[in-house]
Amino acid sequence: MSLGSKKNSGKPGDDGVVLLLGGRSEIGLEIASRLAPGRTIVLAARRSTDLAAERQALLDAGAAAVDCVEFDADDLDSHEKLLRSVADTHGPLSVAVLAFGILGDQARAERDARHAVAVVHTDYVAQVSVLTHLATLLREQGSGRIVVFSSVAGVRVRRANYVYGSAKAGLDGFASGLGDALHGSGVSLLLIRSGFVIGRMTEGMSPAPMSSTPAQVADAVVRGLHRGASRVWVPGRLRPVFFVMRLLPQAVWRRMPR
Ligand SMILES: NC(=O)c1ccc[n+]([C@@H]2O[C@H](COP(=O)([O-])OP(=O)(O)OC[C@H]3O[C@@H](n4cnc5c(N)ncnc54)[C@H](OP(=O)(O)O)[C@@H]3O)[C@@H](O)[C@H]2O)c1
Repeated sequence: MSLGSKKNSGKPGDDGVVLLLGGRSEIGLEIASRLAPGRTIVLAARRSTDLAAERQALLDAGAAAVDCVEFDADDLDSHEKLLRSVADTHGPLSVAVLAFGILGDQARAERDARHAVAVVHTDYVAQVSVLTHLATLLREQGSGRIVVFSSVAGVRVRRANYVYGSAKAGLDGFASGLGDALHGSGVSLLLIRSGFVIGRMTEGMSPAPMSSTPAQVADAVVRGLHRGASRVWVPGRLRPVFFVMRLLPQAVWRRMPR
């Protein structure tokens, strides 16, 4: 049964529209290319007329069609209209991936309240808005999979990146609750808790232990979609590691690097 059909199995079928919110995200594009063969992919991004390379890469990966739509996550009032227009144009959404986000500048955010709020606005408030509209739309469809990117940065927030980490902690809690609220609706939510990913977002930073690449994260996401998982840690061994990390005394934790 495909994800585009009513009351599906919750696993990604061979057809159905894939919506990538954050249409230039490295991890998101890796996921989209794995889901591409035979499907319509919608890339939702800022500067949506400047996505020729991303579009071509997905067509080369076998996508039946790639559409590009304008999306600014920070413009909360635009979310409902955008999501409805994608579904009206292309039909039921089978997989929606929320891949937009910013790391921000921690040092600046500690002094510049506007910057701190901008990070939390994109990484938490905008995600809450998109997720709420998306859940309503997919409930009406009776089907669909939502992929949300939490991070180990939010599992136990570190002093070294507490602004970004706090947004991810909030998002992790919101998405966990939403996933439970969707139980039995035909719609399901896959929450990704990844560690440091070597890529554009972390350019210039030394990789933390147990880092991954965008391709490794995408492989884990697609495996999680296929088995109908609700949580995936990337890499998987971070799960037991963070089980222990949560128990460390605060005096030790406060010295943890980013
Ligand atoms: N990289 C990591 O180490 C890591 C680790 C754990 C979790 N994650 C999470 O995984 C997700 C994907 O990250 P990634 O590594 O693929 O990052 P990425 O390549 O930097 O992609 C993030 C995308 O978000 C978009 N974006 C930012 N603000 C936006 C806004 N206001 N409206 C629309 N789009 C906006 C950016 O678009 P523009 O092209 O317009 O700037 C960018 O293409 C993020 O939620 C991230 O927090 C990443």
